[in-house]
Amino acid sequence: MSLGSARGKIILLGEHAVVYGVPALAAGIDRGAIARVEPADSDKILFGTQELTSEHELYEGLRLVREAFHVPPLRLELSLQIPAGSGLGASAALGVATARAVAQLAPNPIADRHLLSIVAQWERVFHGNPSGIDAAAAFHAGVLRYVRGEEPERVRLRAQLTIVITISGPPANTREMVEGVARLREQRPEAFDKTLTSIASLISNATLCLRSGDREGLGKLMDLNQMLLSTWMVSTPEIERACHTARRAGAYGAKLTGSGGGGCTIALTPEDPEPVLRALRAEGFECFACEIGENQS
Ligand code: MEV
Repeated sequence: MSLGSARGKIILLGEHAVVYGVPALAAGIDRGAIARVEPADSDKILFGTQELTSEHELYEGLRLVREAFHVPPLRLELSLQIPAGSGLGASAALGVATARAVAQLAPNPIADRHLLSIVAQWERVFHGNPSGIDAAAAFHAGVLRYVRGEEPERVRLRAQLTIVITISGPPANTREMVEGVARLREQRPEAFDKTLTSIASLISNATLCLRSGDREGLGKLMDLNQMLLSTWMVSTPEIERACHTARRAGAYGAKLTGSGGGGCTIALTPEDPEPVLRALRAEGFECFACEIGENQS
């Protein structure tokens, strides 16, 4: 039996725009996915305690990884510590965890770059046109500046970030959300490109804020990113309500994270997240706090 694990992620700024080559800022969180594999007569996947039927897309993912790493059929047991379809990168975390577990049974050592390229293919099974940001954040620690097709760059933080993650709607389908944004781009290419340019400048400023420890500045940039994302129709009334509740309770800024359309929001809070957590819970939201810092490994 071999074991692999991987992080979930949040996107601090830049989702959707990253699909079109704009940089984005992402961070792994300390909840994610765990995969256990052992040799079997034929592939078998258990998700939690439930055995998946052979039509499930995860079988295609497992076969892809096995064949790339020259490993015979496996029994794969998966567990997730984050909600699926919620913008926290569950499918990438499952992919990285599975690839790490399967790699240990491979006849030859698997280089990180190869492993990530296989996870990128796994992501295509679930997402259609992924930028690769989720897989990069599931794989690496700390805050990453990610540009599609390039090696992610680690951003050194001056100060630890406290983030409240809130479930702000039902799961959304990333593929459909990304396709919806692509249709908007086709309809209004010039307006779309202007928004991309604005998001790119938010990312440059946010990178400076992270390096200098300016949480208030970062929060304002997150709010602006949320406003621009809402013009792409990926926000919802529930997402806006969660962001508003967090800001009113003292968050520096708040926005959706991931594909939107439901799923999670993130709020950057002062070191003590309790007032924000309390306010969100009083409004009926499920939420938790996490720390993003230099001590992540
Ligand atoms: C999903 O976590 C982030 C998106 O930008 C899609 C992607 O980059 O693959 C919406």
